[in-house]
Amino acid sequence: MTVFSAVDFSDHELVVFARDAESGLKAVIAVHSTALGPAVGGCRMWHYASEEEAVRDALRLSRGMSHKNAMADLPLGGGKSVIMAPEGAFDRQALLRAFGRAVDSLGGRYVTAEDVGTTVADMLAIRAVTKHVSGVGADGSRDGDPSPYTALGVYHGIRASVRHRLGKTSLEGVTVAVQGLGNVGRNLCALLHRDGARLIVTDISPERVQAAVAAHGAAAVGLEDILTVEADVLAPCALGAVLNAETIPALNVPVVAGAANNQLATAEDGERLRERGILYAPDYVLNAGGIIAVSHEILNDFEQARVIARIEAIDARLTAIFAEAEKTGLATAAVADRMAEARIDAARKKRAAAVQAA
Ligand code: NAI
Repeated sequence: MTVFSAVDFSDHELVVFARDAESGLKAVIAVHSTALGPAVGGCRMWHYASEEEAVRDALRLSRGMSHKNAMADLPLGGGKSVIMAPEGAFDRQALLRAFGRAVDSLGGRYVTAEDVGTTVADMLAIRAVTKHVSGVGADGSRDGDPSPYTALGVYHGIRASVRHRLGKTSLEGVTVAVQGLGNVGRNLCALLHRDGARLIVTDISPERVQAAVAAHGAAAVGLEDILTVEADVLAPCALGAVLNAETIPALNVPVVAGAANNQLATAEDGERLRERGILYAPDYVLNAGGIIAVSHEILNDFEQARVIARIEAIDARLTAIFAEAEKTGLATAAVADRMAEARIDAARKKRAAAVQAA
C-alpha cells in the first residue's frame, strides 16, 4: 500500500494510522491542510473491504474538507478520519475512547465530528478523552447534530440551482429525486415538501422509505431506478462516487444537487456532466451547512440566527460558481476547486512568509 504516491494523496500534511489492540481500533486520521486553521472533519465508521480503501477514503474526504471549509469562508483547515468497523461484536465505547486518545495526541491539529456511521452519542463518548471533538453542542449538552443544518444548506443550494437552470424562483411543483433518507435526506425532504416540491425517494431501509411516503406523499422507487428517474433535480444523499462514467449518460435530470460527499467518482465526471448540459452543484459547497454550524461551536460563538444567515449564503456562493463556469466554459466542480485551492494557497503562502519573518 502506498500513501505518498497514492492517486488521492494531495500534499496532505499528516496521515496517522491509529491502532489499539484491546478495543480493536484501526483508524486513519488524515490532516490535509491546517493553512486556514485547525483541520476539522468528521469521523466515518464503515466496513471497509481493505485498508487501501480506508486510506483512500481518508485522503479523499480530508482534501474535500479543506475545500469545503475554504469555500464556506471558515477559519478552518481540512481533515477527516475513518474507523474500520471491526467484524463481529465489539465494545463501541472502548473503541471510541481509543480513537479519542489518538485524536487527542494530535494536540488540536485535527478536530473530529460526526459522519456516516457515527452519532452525537459517539462524539460524547470521544469527548470523555479529548476536547478536540465537535458536533456535541456548544457546551457538550445541547444536541449538536449538524445534519439539520446540512439539510438546510442543501435546500438553499437546490433553490439556487433550480433558479439558475430552470428559471424558477419557487420549488412549487419541482420534482426532486432524493437518494438516501438518513439524517440529511430525511430533513431535506421535509424542507422540500414544505415548499411544495414533489419527491421521489429511495433508501436501503424500507422503513425510511415508508416514513417519507407517509409524511410527504413521496413516490418510492428502487435503489437502481433513482439514478435514471425523470425529475428536475437529483439529490444524492447517500454515499459518494454515484456520478460516474456509467451513471451520468443515463441521468434524466437537468440538475444534480445533493448532500453526499465526493459525488463525482473522478474529476472527469464534472466535465461529463457539463457536456450533457446537466448543472452540477459542487457537493462540498452545497453540503457545508453542518460544518458552518460546527465551526461556530468550535469557535465558541454559536448563535442560531448568525449560523442560519451564513448557511443561506450558500445560495450566493453557488450562483457565483455557476456564473464563473458559464464565463470560462469550465465544469462547475473545476471552478469550485480552483476557488478553494486559491484560498488555501494564499493562506499557506501567508503562513510560510510569517514563519520566515519570525
Ligand atoms: P446517514 O448514514 O444518516 O444516511 C445515509 C442514508 O443513505 C441511510 O439511510 C442509508 O440507508 C442510505 N443509503 C446508503 N446506501 C444507499 C444506496 N445505495 N441507495 C439508497 N440509499 C442508500 O448519513 P447522512 O448523515 O444523512 O449523510 C448523507 C451524505 O451526506 C453522506 O455522504 C455524508 O458524507 C454527507 N454529508 C453529511 C453531513 C451531515 O451533516 N450529516 C455533512 C456533509 C455531508
